[in-house]
Amino acid sequence: MTGTEPERPLRTLADDERLARARLAPDVWDWIAGGAGEERTLAANTEAFDHLRLLPRVLTGAQAPHPATKVFGTPWSAPVGVAPMAYHTLADPAGELATVRAAGDVGLPVVVSTFAGRTFEELAAEARAPLWLQTYCFRDRSVTRDLVARAEAAGFEALMLTADAPRLGRRLRDLRNGFRLPPGIVPANLPEADYSSPGAHAATEFDPALDWTVVDWLRSITRLPVLVKGLLAPGDALRALDAGADGIVVSNHGGRQLDGVPAAIEALPPIADAVAGRCALLLDGGVRRATDVLAALASGADAVLIGRPVLYGLAVDGEAGVRHVLRTLCDDLRDALALAGAATVADVDADLLAPPPPRR
Ligand code: FNR
Repeated sequence: MTGTEPERPLRTLADDERLARARLAPDVWDWIAGGAGEERTLAANTEAFDHLRLLPRVLTGAQAPHPATKVFGTPWSAPVGVAPMAYHTLADPAGELATVRAAGDVGLPVVVSTFAGRTFEELAAEARAPLWLQTYCFRDRSVTRDLVARAEAAGFEALMLTADAPRLGRRLRDLRNGFRLPPGIVPANLPEADYSSPGAHAATEFDPALDWTVVDWLRSITRLPVLVKGLLAPGDALRALDAGADGIVVSNHGGRQLDGVPAAIEALPPIADAVAGRCALLLDGGVRRATDVLAALASGADAVLIGRPVLYGLAVDGEAGVRHVLRTLCDDLRDALALAGAATVADVDADLLAPPPPRR
């Protein structure tokens, strides 16, 4: 460390995960940390990053590394956003309010879930970085239409349709725990209903028969850019482009939907090839450190979204905990760019990935 750098805490995101586990009620921990089925995809998301190696360049003359970027023309302080997650209020009573304040301090966007525990209006009043809305599509289209209208009126800047959840994945930890939301944990932006069992609610209220025409419908009810989240197949990425999507999120929902699908980072390169820069390309699932962000950019992503670590930071230390998680990623990204010989995120390309070692 040089004398001019502010002191940085030495807690990694993995440390926060351990601390959060000790603080959360066991069934809430399982709801957040768990995945579907045998959790093979959940494990694959992080393991695939663990096995990637970077190939830095030396003597590049790059100085003052600068992780800032723009998405839809809007500046982000790093190519990192907060993934949509239901009920931040499970991790801390301030919920999404704390997350939005912390992300604003670091200059990073938050994708607010349909099942946020705080209202769009109170979040928008505190926002100092972009807010996007994640939407599910309900059988009753007027529910989705109202959500979108309210978020747009509050100043949200993009709409992200979650496409991989015609119903919730079979999450065995929650089924074994008989998980129900604790009293007082409710979605602040949805009409009154029984939300206590997330799986049962989704099974009756989500539209299970969506097809690509839903993108057109969303575009007809909003002026905001529309992203489609939850794609893993290159053919689906092309369909999303044909349907007029402005962006794609390569994602397996953090291993919470269909178990046995590829890690998000494994699914990314063929999708990046298919899309060829024609829309914004994001990835989520398993990003736990700055070098994972670099690996995702090198594999073709414009930016990544971070899920569980944000809720872990929130559980450990509220708003300050989220700030710590996001700052750690951004500060480490600055270090990693410098050590990789890149000055900006635009300098990161496939050459930064080391070829896989030969199998023995
Ligand atoms: C989620 N995710 C999610 N996705 C979505 O589109 N709408 C939602 O409401 C939620 N809710 C949610 C709750 C919790 C507790 C988790 C852990 C995840 C999925 C999320 O957006 C993202 O795809 C993954 O979390 C990314 O993986 P990592 O970063 O958690 O590994």
